[in-house]
Amino acid sequence: MTIKAVVFDAYGTLYDIQSVATVTEQAFPGYGDIITQVWRLKQLEYTWLRSLMRRYEDFSVITRESLAFTLRGLGLGYDREAFERIMDKYVQLDLYPDAKAALTALKGRKLAILSNGSTDMLNALVRNTGLDQVLDATISVDQQRVFKPAPEAYSLVESRLGIGPSEVLFVSSNPFDVCGAKSFGFNVAWIERVTPAALASALVDLDAIAPLTLFKMLRTQMDELGVAPDHRVGALSELPALVAS
Ligand code: 2OP
Repeated sequence: MTIKAVVFDAYGTLYDIQSVATVTEQAFPGYGDIITQVWRLKQLEYTWLRSLMRRYEDFSVITRESLAFTLRGLGLGYDREAFERIMDKYVQLDLYPDAKAALTALKGRKLAILSNGSTDMLNALVRNTGLDQVLDATISVDQQRVFKPAPEAYSLVESRLGIGPSEVLFVSSNPFDVCGAKSFGFNVAWIERVTPAALASALVDLDAIAPLTLFKMLRTQMDELGVAPDHRVGALSELPALVAS
C-alpha cells in the first residue's frame, strides 16, 4: 500500500484515557474506577446523541456534562474546585508508552491526529505532551460540528492534508472509530489493546465484574457493524513495520 499520511485517533489510541483514574480516585476514594468508566461511556454516548439531535456542542462541553452526569448518578457531591481538578487531567493525559517512539519512527509521512476533541483541548494536550514536535497537524471535528463516526468528520483529513482516503492509514483503538473510518474509505489499523482471551480471563466471576472489565467488553472489542479493519495490531510500536511493508 502507498501510505502518504498516518492519522491517529487521540483518546484511547495515543493517549491513555484510563489515566484519569488517578485523579478521580484522589477526588473520590473508592470510586475512581466507576467514575472513570461511566464518564467515558457517557461522554461517547453524548457525542453520538448530540450529532443525531443536531445539537453540537464541542467535546469540552460534552466532557463536562458527562462528568456531571456521572457524579450525580453515583450520588457524589462535589465543589467546583474538585470538578475542575478532574477536568484538568484531560489536557494532561498520559501518552501510551510507545506513542512517541512510534510517531518518530513514522516520520517522512504526514502525521496527524483526527479527534472528537475540541481544538483548544487537543492543542493543549498535544503541547503539554510534546507531540507538537512530531505531528504535522492536529485536526478537530469542531470545523464540521459533527462527531466521528460521521463521514463529514473523516473528510477533514483530505481538506486539511490534501491526501485522499486511499493513501491514508487511519489508526484507532476505538472499535466505533475503526468501523467509521473503514466505512468512510480509509485504510485502517485497529490497535487491539484487549484480546478476547485477556477479556475472557477477567470475566470468570460474573458476580464481581469490575467497571473496567465491563468497559473493556463494551468499548475495546470489535463491533458488529458490518465493516472490518484492514490491519489488527497489538501496539503502536508495530506501525512502522506495517507502513513500510
Ligand atoms: C477521539 O479522540 C473520542 O477517542 C475519540 O476522537
